[in-house]
Amino acid sequence: MATLPPPAWSGAPAAPNLVAGAQALVAKHQCNSCHGPELLGQDAIPRIRGQREDNFAKALAGYKSNARPGYDPAMNEVAQELKDDEIRDLAAYISRL
Ligand code: HEC
Repeated sequence: MATLPPPAWSGAPAAPNLVAGAQALVAKHQCNSCHGPELLGQDAIPRIRGQREDNFAKALAGYKSNARPGYDPAMNEVAQELKDDEIRDLAAYISRL
């Protein structure tokens, strides 16, 4: 599973006006500490880099509302702190890496 390279995003980059904010959110919430330095996932933690934007936003919204309990409560805790517009920006940014 971890042997396949991730699909590289080949479309337009994320809007420049949201990149800095999204990077700051990644740093603030330490997404890298669990999902890996390149957000490619590690151990049992899934890759989030280059995930489809709509799936990504839906996953975070689900964790936030607790409609989606994880096998591990980590994401529910992270998502509680995210505002809806922050989820949108993170999805737009990370899906285009
Ligand atoms: C403390 C560790 C931890 C941190 C910090 C963390 N995550 Fe996660 N994340 C996880 C785990 C564990 C899962 C799998 C949970 C499950 O069972 O659904 C996950 C799942 C996800 C998923 C769903 C992926 C999929 O394929 O279903 C997304 C999206 C995600 N994380 C985004 C983020 C973002 C964005 C941040 C930073 C704002 C972040 N995570 C920070 C541990 C973490």
